[in-house]
Amino acid sequence: MTEQKRKRVFSGIQPSGDLTIGNYIGAIRQWVQHQHEFNALYCVVDLHAITAGHDPASLAAKTREVAAIYIACGIDPAQSIIFAQSHVTAHAELGWLLTCVTPIGWLQRMTQFKDKAAKQDAANVSNGLLSYPVLMAADILLYHTEAVPVGDDQKQHLELTRDIAQRFNHMYGEIFTIPEVMLPLEGARVMGLDNPLTKMSKSEKTQYHAVHLLDNPDQIRKSVMRAVTDSGSLVTFSNDPERAGVNNLLTIYQALVGGTQADVEAYFVGKSYGDLKKAVAEVVAETLKPIQARYAEITADETYLNEILASGADRARELAAPTLQSVYQNMGFLPVKQLQQVKL
Ligand code: TRP
Repeated sequence: MTEQKRKRVFSGIQPSGDLTIGNYIGAIRQWVQHQHEFNALYCVVDLHAITAGHDPASLAAKTREVAAIYIACGIDPAQSIIFAQSHVTAHAELGWLLTCVTPIGWLQRMTQFKDKAAKQDAANVSNGLLSYPVLMAADILLYHTEAVPVGDDQKQHLELTRDIAQRFNHMYGEIFTIPEVMLPLEGARVMGLDNPLTKMSKSEKTQYHAVHLLDNPDQIRKSVMRAVTDSGSLVTFSNDPERAGVNNLLTIYQALVGGTQADVEAYFVGKSYGDLKKAVAEVVAETLKPIQARYAEITADETYLNEILASGADRARELAAPTLQSVYQNMGFLPVKQLQQVKL
C-alpha cells in the first residue's frame, strides 16, 4: 500500500492511573495489530489528564510511562507517530477555536461528563471537564483523521467530534475530514474484577479491581484469584448480569488465547471457577512478561524515549500546522505572516 492510500488513524490514552489489561485488550493491542495498514498517530493525551485534578509531581513521569508502554506493547515508533499532546501546541489552540463553535448543550449532554461531574464536588467541576470532548475533537481533526480506534465508552465523544467538524465546515468552509469510529473486536470489553458490571478502569483505586500492565506475577495472581464470580459452577459465557464475573474472566482468556467461545468453553468443561482463575492468571502473566521485559529495557535508557517523543512531536507538528493555519485563515484572523514582512 502506498503512503497516500493508508488510512490516517489517531488514538490516545490519558497519563493518569495505571494502565490495565483492559487498555491493552481493548485498545493498544488493536493499534499494534493494525499499525502497518495505517498512518497512525498514538498520543499520550496529557492535556486531558488535568481536567479533574492531577498531581503535578507525577504528570511528567506518567506521560513517559504511557509512551514506554505503547512501545513495549509493540507500537513501532518507526511506523507510527508516538508523542505527548502538550508538545504539539496546535492541540490546545484548535481546542479553543472549536470551543467557540460548540454549543454548550452538546457538551452538557455527554454521559461521561454527567457521570464524572456527579462524582465530584459540584463547586470543583472544571470547565475543562465539560470541554474535554472539544479538545478530543481537536486531537482528531488536526490530522484529518479518518478512523479512531476507541472503546465504545468513547463512541459518544466521536459522534460529537463529527458534529463539531460538520458544524465548523458549514460555518467556515470545508476543512475537516469527518472521522469514523473503529470499535475493537467483539468481546474486547474488559470489566472490573471486583465489579464485573462496570468497565475496568485505570483510575479505580480499589485493590484487586484490575490487573495493571506493570503488575508482577504475584499481584496478577492475587487480583485474578479474588475476582468476583457467582454461586454457580458452570464455566460458560453468559449475558446474565449475575454471571458477569465468570463471563469477564472467559472474555479475558479468549482475548489472550484466541479461538471461538465454543473452543474456550470446551477447554473448561468439567473445570471449576478456581481452575478458570488459575488459567486466566497464568495467561495474563505470560502475556505481560515480554511486555514488562521490553518496558524495563526502554525505561533503562532515558535518551531513547526522549528521542522518540521529540521526533514524534516534530512529525505531528508538521502535520498539524497546515490544518491549524487554514482554520485561522477561514475564521478570519489577522495572519501572522503580514507582521513578519514589517521591518523593525
Ligand atoms: N477520551 C479518550 C479516553 O478517555 C482519550 C482521548 C483523548 C482520545 N483524545 C483522543 C482517544 C483522541 C481517541 C482520539 O479514552
